[in-house]
Parts: sequence; C-alpha cells; structure tokens
Amino acid sequence: MKLTKKLLLATLVSGALTANAFAGTVEVLHYWTSGGEAAAAAELKKSLEAQGHEWTDFAVAGGGGDNAMTVLKSRAVAGNPPSAAQVKGPSIQDWAELDLLINLNDVAEAEKWDAVLPPVVAKVMKYDGHYVAAPVNVHRVNWLWANPEVFKKSGVEVPTTWEDFFAVADKIKAAGFIPFAHGGQPWQDATVFEDMVLGMGGADFYKKALVELDEEALGGKKMVEILTAFKKLKDYTDPSSPGREWNITTGMVINGKAAMQIMGDWAKGEFTAAKKVPGKDYICIASPGTKDAFVFNIDSMIMFESKNADNNKATKDLAKAILDPSFQKVFNMNKGSIPVRTDADMSDFDDCAKLSAEDFKKSAAAGTLVPSMAHEMAIPAAVRGAFLDTVTNFFNSKNATAKETAKKLVKAVKMAE
Ligand code: GAL
Repeated sequence: MKLTKKLLLATLVSGALTANAFAGTVEVLHYWTSGGEAAAAAELKKSLEAQGHEWTDFAVAGGGGDNAMTVLKSRAVAGNPPSAAQVKGPSIQDWAELDLLINLNDVAEAEKWDAVLPPVVAKVMKYDGHYVAAPVNVHRVNWLWANPEVFKKSGVEVPTTWEDFFAVADKIKAAGFIPFAHGGQPWQDATVFEDMVLGMGGADFYKKALVELDEEALGGKKMVEILTAFKKLKDYTDPSSPGREWNITTGMVINGKAAMQIMGDWAKGEFTAAKKVPGKDYICIASPGTKDAFVFNIDSMIMFESKNADNNKATKDLAKAILDPSFQKVFNMNKGSIPVRTDADMSDFDDCAKLSAEDFKKSAAAGTLVPSMAHEMAIPAAVRGAFLDTVTNFFNSKNATAKETAKKLVKAVKMAE
C-alpha cells in the first residue's frame, strides 16, 4: 500500500481522533495520601487518563493540607506551579488575585455548572464573576464515628450531647477501652474544637465567633465554657495521641481499640477502604449537639495557566471530568464525602452519605449550614493559623486557663487580621 499524502492525512486524522490530538500532561498537587483518600484520587487520575491525557502525581503527605500549602507556595514563588492544586475556600481568591489561574468559564458554561452547583459552592469557586476552581465534593466535618462493639461491651449508648459524652466516656474508660480516639495535631484539635463550638453554642454563635470573629463571642462566657469542656477531652485520649495522623486514629475505632473519634467524613473513606459496613461495623452520627446543623468543607482544584496550550486544554478537561456525574459518584463513594452536584442520585450511596445529603439541604434551608474554620472555608489563612496555634497550645498546656485562652483568642485573631 503506497502511502499517499491523502492516506497519511487520513491516518493522522483518524489517529488523532482516537488518541486526542491535544493530549497533554496535568500535574496535580494534592494531599490525599491515606487509604480512602488515595483510592478516591486514583479515580480522578483514571478519569483524566480516559480522555487521553497524562496525570503526574504530586502528593504531599500530611492530613489537613498545611504541608501541601507550604509546598505549593514555594513552587509558585519559584515560578514552577503544578497544573492543578487542591486549594479551598477563601484561599482560592488569594491565588486568583495573583493572575496565575485559568479562567474556567468556558468549561463551566458548556457543562452548566451554575445549574448543578449549590449557590454556596458556586460562590466559593468564582473570582471576579468567573470560575477559577472546580469543586469535587461536600465533606461534613461534624461527625462522630463509633465502634458499636466497644459501646456494647461498655454497656453504654453513643452520646448525642456533650453531657452524655463525658458520662459515657467515664464508663468506657472503666471498661478498659480508650474513650476518645484523637490525633494531636493543630488541624485535628481545631476540627474537634469547631464541632464543640457548634454543639455547645449553636449555629449563630458559631458564625459570630468563627466566621465574623466577633470579639464578644470569641472572648465571652460561652467561649470560656466551651474551652473548659474542650480541655476536658484530653483526659479521655491515650498517651500516644500527640502528633498521630488522623487515619491512624480512625484505625483505632475500626479495630475496636477505641470507642469514638470526632472527624470529618474523610474518616468514612477509611472505614470503606477497610470494607466496614455502616450501621453494623461502625456508627456515623452527628457530633454531640449538632444533629440539626452542618459544618461544610468543599475540596476543590484550582488550575494554573501554563505556556503549553495542550496542557491547558488537558487541565480544562480535568475540570470538566471533576463535575462529571459518574466521576462524582465513584470519587465520593471512596472519599467519604457527598457529590457536590444538586442533581446527584444518592440511591447507591450508604446511609451515612444519604444522611449527609439530607442534612446538607435541611441545614441550608434552616440557616444552620456553616463553613469549616479548621478546613479553610471560613476565614483568611493567617487568621485560621492564629486560631490553630491558640487552640492547640491550650489543649496541650498544663496550666493555661480557659479564661486566659479566650482572651488570647481575641488578641491572636486581631493581630492576624
Ligand atoms: C481536609 C480535606 C479532606 C481530607 C482531610 C484530611 O482538609 O479537605 O479532603 O483530605 O483534610 O486530610
């Protein structure tokens, strides 16, 4: 067969159609390294490769993402940002202001994002009226994960209020188990702290203190009461708690060494990865005092403009893939979160996810849907840093009082603003 110009062209065109002529490489910086997180990230990789592109993985270990954000900043300063990065909340605005990000409006229009995203989510993803980030999921932060066997052996019920919590924890301790599985790291301390602010103060107080940074709320009697209870939690943790990663800590509830953990539903990804069944092997329940409220944390990817047109196209294809309904399903089933699309079919999801989706809608309508401070959804990064330092120092200090710490919170926040 003689290769004529016409034939060559035809082959090239047909080859191009199948192999995606604009195949590019997308380097993704993220911090999804635990069992459940990695399983979910692998689905994102698969969905990009299915479009003929190459995924370069840049995973930065360290739950909560503080390490990853430090690495991202140094790469950007060095003029070598990745193609995409897991960045959330108000920080998206900071990156967009630097004029480094791709405008995703063409993808958003073609894929009708405005029609399928909750307004609270679409707002976070936009800068100056245009999309600069793609939302992956909705995580709920105010969960308590419990091992039913440990509760049965201790002869107690899973607590729904903070009063119950301490009474139950005493009995579990007496029965020889670790009542409260906690990983002693600043972001984990802050996660439990914010769930306590919501559980003991309510949604309006939460908003006043952790979103509006109201001095009276931060430094007042209620905050002192909450900090006192927060510190008491330490008595129910184990000596190996300081510095422990969150997923190792979830493992203690999975294997029945400890009774309960308070953590966002990325913890559920670990139960799923361990093939545990909700309602049977573990119990998911709103953290004490928060059943009618929802602390939200939305994972999202920002996309950096590159000089290579094929890579930019590939990065946009990643954004498109992220909102694809079938990807939304398989990613969130692994990750423990719920799809961000309002039209998601939840029928195949487990009972924890179904409850999360219901409560997300109910709390949005009731005004009890609040952004996570600990997971960078509520306040600027610097102010969050001040919170984490103050809260974690108090939790680990021998002598600091709740009253002093409430005053310190007011001061630290003011200085960081
Ligand atoms: C959160 C993040 C989640 C999960 C968690 C633990 O900040 O949004 O996706 O990864 O940290 O690492």
